Amino acid sequence: MSEGNKTKLITAGRNKKWTQGVVNPPVQRASTVVFDTVAEKNHATINRANKTLFYGRRGTTTHFAFQEAMVEVEGGAGCALYPCGTAAISNTILSFVESGDHLLMVDTCYEPTRDFCDKILKKFGVETTYYEPTIGEGIRDLIQPNTKILFTESPGSITMEVQDVPTLARIAHEQDIIVMLDNTWGAGVNFSPFEHGVDISIQAATKYIVGHSDVMLGTAVASEKYWDQLREQSYLMGQCVSPDDAYLGLRGIRTLDVRLRQHAESSLKVAKWLEQRPEVDHVRHPALESCPGHEFFKRDFTGGNGLFSFVLKTSNPRATTALLDSMQHFSMGYSWGGFESLILANEPKSFNSLRTVANPNFSGTLIRIHIGLEDVDDLIADLEQGLARYNAVILEQEATA
Ligand SMILES: Cc1ncc(COP(=O)(O)O)c(C=O)c1O
Repeated sequence: MSEGNKTKLITAGRNKKWTQGVVNPPVQRASTVVFDTVAEKNHATINRANKTLFYGRRGTTTHFAFQEAMVEVEGGAGCALYPCGTAAISNTILSFVESGDHLLMVDTCYEPTRDFCDKILKKFGVETTYYEPTIGEGIRDLIQPNTKILFTESPGSITMEVQDVPTLARIAHEQDIIVMLDNTWGAGVNFSPFEHGVDISIQAATKYIVGHSDVMLGTAVASEKYWDQLREQSYLMGQCVSPDDAYLGLRGIRTLDVRLRQHAESSLKVAKWLEQRPEVDHVRHPALESCPGHEFFKRDFTGGNGLFSFVLKTSNPRATTALLDSMQHFSMGYSWGGFESLILANEPKSFNSLRTVANPNFSGTLIRIHIGLEDVDDLIADLEQGLARYNAVILEQEATA
């Protein structure tokens, strides 16, 4: 997102129709919308897909404000809301496939995305082929006559491979294949999906959009070509969210860019510090050359955030436990995108069940961290002490061997 466009984060969705003249839209709770006349009821029915109060599941003014804001931020024609990112991913895919179709899924996708393909799509006769995240032009060889969707996630979950989305999209569009992106890392502001050939951009708004670790929320923003189908199919599958959560999503957008810039500045400082540590084999931070696909990050992204991984030279679960157990500022949590720092470890063998074609080629423990908004020097000191505990266990093991 360019400098000028950042103003959009402040103005997006603040239509007086939704805000009623105050800065933020009121939280409008509703299941039932009531009409005094047949004409009003008919008007609502005809316009029910177009931000008109009709019935709670179609949304209220709070939802309309958030949906409009997401479209202003990401581009596209419309935004469907879901109770979490996983629901956004599964319902968006389900809205476009039928039995006999084929899906190309990036091998480094978020684990539940993979489980959805293997455990649910398969049941309905939709076949999935996993592809290497850095496959580029090679994707052509995997396309089948029945390929319906090319799904991308960039950078990839945990191992952070940045994809060449424009190349993948160009090739997919030659066969009229729908290009979907899990744009949670790009957060809608650092990777502009529609400028890079994406047809539907999905986010776990649970992460940076909400930004405060207190809401589950998903979004899917579609281009004109796919919006009607996405909206109607998701509606049929009963997808809707509470107005409180939509409100918090909208509120998060206001500070999104300023938060991301701080996360990015601090995470780069930590990543560069980790690069110098003797225990670290390499750092997988999209802004560093050591990250697979770094060239696509430089070309296509306008900024970073707080989430990256680093790989230790060794795999020593006891030493890693000592590192993790007494952290002062990093907590262990299966998430990211909030104001707080988080840390998780993955032993190399755990990728055996997560990956089929892109099993990462390293033998040390991978540590994924989310750098929050704490003072970065406190975070570095915390990691330094953690690595000292890690080294102490290894020394003790060597002494008793
Ligand atoms: C890249 C990515 N996509 C999707 C999701 C799913 O989001 P949610 O937890 O809101 O279902 C996550 C959650 O961690 C994620 O990391």
